[in-house]
Amino acid sequence: MVFKRTKSIVGLDIGSHAVKAVEMSLVGNEFVLTEFGQAQVYAEGSISDAINEVMSSCRFRTKRVVTSVSGKSVIVRYLNLVQMNDDELKNAIRFEADKYIPFDVDEVVLDCQRLDDLDQAVRVEAGQDAEMRVLLVACKRSLVEDHFGMLTGLGLQPEIIDVDAFALGNAYEFMATGGEAIADDDRVVALIDIGANKTNINIVRGTSSFFTREIYLGGDDFTGGISKKLSVDLHEAELLKRDPGDQIEDVKDAIFPYIDDIGNEIRLSFDYYENQFDREVDEVFLSGGASRLMTLEESLERIFEKKTSLWSPVEYLKSSDRVDRELLEENAPQLAIAVGLASRLQVA
Ligand SMILES: Nc1ncnc2c1ncn2[C@@H]1O[C@H](COP(=O)(O)OP(=O)(O)OP(=O)(O)O)[C@@H](O)[C@H]1O
Ligand SMILES: [Mg+2]
Repeated sequence: MVFKRTKSIVGLDIGSHAVKAVEMSLVGNEFVLTEFGQAQVYAEGSISDAINEVMSSCRFRTKRVVTSVSGKSVIVRYLNLVQMNDDELKNAIRFEADKYIPFDVDEVVLDCQRLDDLDQAVRVEAGQDAEMRVLLVACKRSLVEDHFGMLTGLGLQPEIIDVDAFALGNAYEFMATGGEAIADDDRVVALIDIGANKTNINIVRGTSSFFTREIYLGGDDFTGGISKKLSVDLHEAELLKRDPGDQIEDVKDAIFPYIDDIGNEIRLSFDYYENQFDREVDEVFLSGGASRLMTLEESLERIFEKKTSLWSPVEYLKSSDRVDRELLEENAPQLAIAVGLASRLQVA
């Protein structure tokens, strides 16, 4: 009997409102989603409690996890550097980093990745050195160490620590190469993940990232708005947000200014990208728990004046028989980052 070699990893998206986990397995040479789940982070509990809950309530095959960090201690820069090989890049990056990051290089963990070579022919023809785009990520060492310590303390085996915005990009790439969604390499798509307290933006052309930003607005602002306007506590406001019943008009009024705020902030990022690259954002893909808010798609589409829709990171992804496909699809937008983290199974 021939046994298929399987290898699994859990993408663990540790949010401030919920911990989402997606297990991906390599069965033969095919990626299969083998388990998923989520646990709420309660005000009276801790993030560790929520991680423990999701890890014990799901039937994962492995303790190997890919997680991500985000926030102000994570700095992302896109650099144009003269063409060099990977060894040279490794040596150059510490020096380059010093110029671009607001922290002491000794205080950070650095990572870099060669992106693509743009307008190469044009530059060479003009007698200029060929350049390449390089992604530089710097993260405060203390943040990485605390994060790593928390995971190992919970008995998990961290394999890769990623950055939210790139996990989102990876989920999109994984989806896009699985289906035929981006046969067009030149298409510019803005991926927007709206969580509870923050919104991650990653603008990709084809599948290559050109711009990322984090905005500190999210679903909890909608809840806060409802609570204030309707004079109800946050718990009640959360319920009303999800299912407003006959108070729908009041709820809409309460959240409107916050949608406007978030939409306008996101639009500033589009403007920045469009000015810098002289290219329009073609389409917007929404994910994150807060993107499930009623009317959000239409409201943002009106603000952006671009096609805006929720997308499913699992659309072309096979799942094993014991996965509840209906529940998976219902939760899919909220799982985008976790799917992107788990997609790193390719290299882990
Ligand atoms: N059906 C729904 N309608 C409206 N909002 C919803 C719905 N389901 C979840 N949310 C909201 O989504 C948010 C949680 O989403 P998500 O799990 O993506 O956040 P998170 O990753 O924990 O937060 P962050 O990334 O900001 O730390 C909460 O604000 C929650 O109220
Ligand atoms: Mg999140």
